[in-house]
Amino acid sequence: MTDSITITDNRTGESVEIPIRHGGVNSTDWASLLGNIWFADEAFSHTAVGESAITELVGDEGILRYRGYPIEQVAERSTYLEVAYLLLNGELPNEAEYNAWIDEITHHTYIHENFLKRFIEAFRYDAHTMGMLISSIAALSAFYPEAKHVLDPEIRRKQIVRLIAKVPTMAAAAYRFSVGLPFVYPDNQLDFATNFLSMIFRIAQPKYECHPAVSRALDILFILHADHSQNCSTTTARVVGSSHADPYSVVASACAALYGPRHGGANEAVLEMLRRIGTYENVNDFISEVKSGKTRLMGFGHRVYKNYDPRAKIIKEAADAVFEQVGKNPLLDIALKLEEVALADDYFISRRLYPNVDFYSGLIYQALNFPTTMFTVLFAIPRTSGWLAHWNELLERDSRIARPRQLYVGHPKRDYVPLSGRG
Ligand code: ACO
Repeated sequence: MTDSITITDNRTGESVEIPIRHGGVNSTDWASLLGNIWFADEAFSHTAVGESAITELVGDEGILRYRGYPIEQVAERSTYLEVAYLLLNGELPNEAEYNAWIDEITHHTYIHENFLKRFIEAFRYDAHTMGMLISSIAALSAFYPEAKHVLDPEIRRKQIVRLIAKVPTMAAAAYRFSVGLPFVYPDNQLDFATNFLSMIFRIAQPKYECHPAVSRALDILFILHADHSQNCSTTTARVVGSSHADPYSVVASACAALYGPRHGGANEAVLEMLRRIGTYENVNDFISEVKSGKTRLMGFGHRVYKNYDPRAKIIKEAADAVFEQVGKNPLLDIALKLEEVALADDYFISRRLYPNVDFYSGLIYQALNFPTTMFTVLFAIPRTSGWLAHWNELLERDSRIARPRQLYVGHPKRDYVPLSGRG
């Protein structure tokens, strides 16, 4: 058997044989025979944007690996910042590299005072924190004009460090502003997750402290959300990056893509859904509504996973560790019942709909006292390293600007009619 496919143009009888490489066929080979015939693939369901060596995702088997390392192993044994290093550099750091990396990130967490005082405070009192975060990230490009030299690897590296370090500070500032609390500056003595919790929750204590199980759970959530191959926001980052826009604009646009309820906004939507269901007894009626097409079961289903999302399993365990410390979230029972009913129902079985990463993450965030408006922000913080790993990979590979075609279905040529003649 040859690892290739042959396409025949029935109009001319001409054929072309295209080798299958890494599970795909090259569109350039296809174009050699079928020049002006385009693939119609509106939601990119069957299109690979290119090659990537960052994250492997095998949806049918529920496999997720960062640079070859299974997600279960990194979630159990690594830290978010080590994972960010791995995604960006391709290898786990040795001890000296790890310490230097932590030190570098820790010392780039501060933000220009003008930014906090003038930019964040310029928002309306009720602005959504995601809206504030997206704009804040974009605004950073005005603070670092050298960032536009995207073909310089050293300049790229510097912006990567800045973004990974400063996004949590901006996210926390957006939150503090939205609840009318003074900004808390980063504490360089704390690890990444605890420092973030400190910037969010510290009130009058001289030093923020939390149970290690709580900051570890947050760090695990950061690990699980760090990258996920070509999802909507990562592809956005690659498309915008392909125009050689600066990385702040790239990450801001990816963050905007993440905001939607079909993507990173789903965890917020899950909590709203659980509240709407209200009680354990209403679960069956809600499932009937989903099956009749009136609504969707948020936190279920995935374009790629047609099996249990491996991240959802790990999150369930992290949730138990958090609930042990802070008490059980009353909405958990509704979520567990929903999962049980859905996994036994033919509607969900036949469509291969399983819980995704967002089904349980919101319950942990809520138990940690985050308001729902912060849920997608909590996703954006770690995903920043994934977006940047893809952006960096793209620029290392001398890519072309993203420019898809369309199948035009509008009017054929017609003549302009002046206003007075339009009836
Ligand atoms: N609830 C009920 N039915 C669903 C759901 C759901 N959550 N998801 C898919 N379906 C049904 C569809 O109605 C469709 O049924 P049909 O064949 O009878 O028309 C079938 O399953 C296939 O669904 P599609 O919409 O084609 O699946 P697609 O791959 O386009 O969508 C998506 C994936 C957007 C994630 C979808 O499953 C969904 O809306 N889920 C809820 C939102 C969510 O949890 N998003 C988070 C995704 S993970 C992430 O971004 C971090």
